[in-house]
Amino acid sequence: MKAWPAPAKLNLFLHVTGRRADGYHLLQTVFRFIDYGDTLYFTVRDEPLVTHANPLPGVLPQHDLTVRAARLLQAHTGTSQGVEIRLDKRLPMGGGLGGGSSDAATTLIALNQLWQTGLSRAELEVLGLQLGADVPIFVHGHAAFAEGVGEAFTDVHLLPSSYLVLIPPVSVPTPAIFSSPDLCRSTPVISPSDWSAGQGRNDLEPIAVQLYPEVGAYLDLLRPYGVARMSGSGACVFVEFADAKAAQAALEQLPTHVRGFVADGLDQHPLQDCLT
Ligand code: C5P
Repeated sequence: MKAWPAPAKLNLFLHVTGRRADGYHLLQTVFRFIDYGDTLYFTVRDEPLVTHANPLPGVLPQHDLTVRAARLLQAHTGTSQGVEIRLDKRLPMGGGLGGGSSDAATTLIALNQLWQTGLSRAELEVLGLQLGADVPIFVHGHAAFAEGVGEAFTDVHLLPSSYLVLIPPVSVPTPAIFSSPDLCRSTPVISPSDWSAGQGRNDLEPIAVQLYPEVGAYLDLLRPYGVARMSGSGACVFVEFADAKAAQAALEQLPTHVRGFVADGLDQHPLQDCLT
């Protein structure tokens, strides 16, 4: 059966520049995919039933982003086909690596092909946004400077590099970070052309560190190796290396109880060619 990859993303920086009337925050961020993620398998059915073969513990089917993505595509296109979804989960939940969003995007991309529903990339990006602010970047399929709530893209081309990503032993609920009264919501807007690699910070990081001291402790573990940053709303933290060998050597120096992995940065999503 065909394996469909759902890579993680890193936010190389993340500025909060304002807040919309509906409570969502205006962001500026650079999303980069990495070659580490979940894998999905789809068994198409001739009846419209959508099921999950191995649901995540504690996640009801109606809340599962892959099931919701499949049902959204069904409703939008009127297809009479269904699917059984199997997910091999590697990415942490509440990790800031976009795992659930990437799973949802891969479901949209795969089913659009398997069901032959023929939606364009632009149409799937709009559908994806209904599932979460981080879904469109995975449908977009190219590393990008993102604005709006994270859905307006300017593609970026980044130098090859590797990342050491650490997984603190906490799951961070995104709404708790965005709703903090201490969050700085007024970082000045920059032009995408003014951004260069390494610039900026993650405005969500001080809030996550305040609420989850483990995030701060894991950032401290990475600081000897370079500029340590949190991804998204946390909990995962990362540092960039020129190559995977150097990143792996750093990982091996850390205490054995520290969970982490090494991955290469990708400019293109592995399913980029599935959409036009
Ligand atoms: O869109 P997503 O489901 O990932 O967002 C989870 C929560 O994070 C939202 O309900 C909202 O509280 C917050 N959020 C936000 N501004 C964003 C993205 C998320 O306030 N741009």
